[in-house]
Amino acid sequence: MSRELYEHCLRTSKFAGELARRFDVEVDKAERAGLLHDFCKEWPIPTQLAAARRLGLWTREFEAQPKVLHGPLAARVLPEELGEADPAVLSAVARHTTGAPGMSRLDMVVYLADMLEPARDFPGADELRASLGGRLETAMLRALEHTLHHLIDRGAWIHPDALLARNDLLRFRE
Ligand SMILES: [Fe+2]
Ligand SMILES: [Fe+2]
Repeated sequence: MSRELYEHCLRTSKFAGELARRFDVEVDKAERAGLLHDFCKEWPIPTQLAAARRLGLWTREFEAQPKVLHGPLAARVLPEELGEADPAVLSAVARHTTGAPGMSRLDMVVYLADMLEPARDFPGADELRASLGGRLETAMLRALEHTLHHLIDRGAWIHPDALLARNDLLRFRE
């Protein structure tokens, strides 16, 4: 992995640990998921798609938006590649790219740490960071809605899991 991505993973791990402490989630799992979440991100897209086919993970949605495949793919290869077999950690790794309905609090911590680690400086990042002072689920809903707005503004294709995740999180709207 490139130095740039490696450093992002270190920052994500550290921030995931901080958020885990804040929201009473298992800190070591959050740190591990943060460190591992982008394990497959720099694999060439054709390699990722081929691996997904081989592992029975391929869907039309991933073909349409291969950028989100590296989460689910990492969750499938990490047990063999690095011996990470904790289902809760693998779930957080899998779900960091799109979110999913029924996310665990660990899933949310890792999604938010990836999106809001200190080097992230997209417009609106500081407002989202401020929402981390409230309820975890509400911060997750705001972050996901921010992502969806951004994708729509760019005319991008949206993975259905991201929409399902957002609808599921509406329970937590304040
Ligand atoms: Fe990622
Ligand atoms: Fe990431």
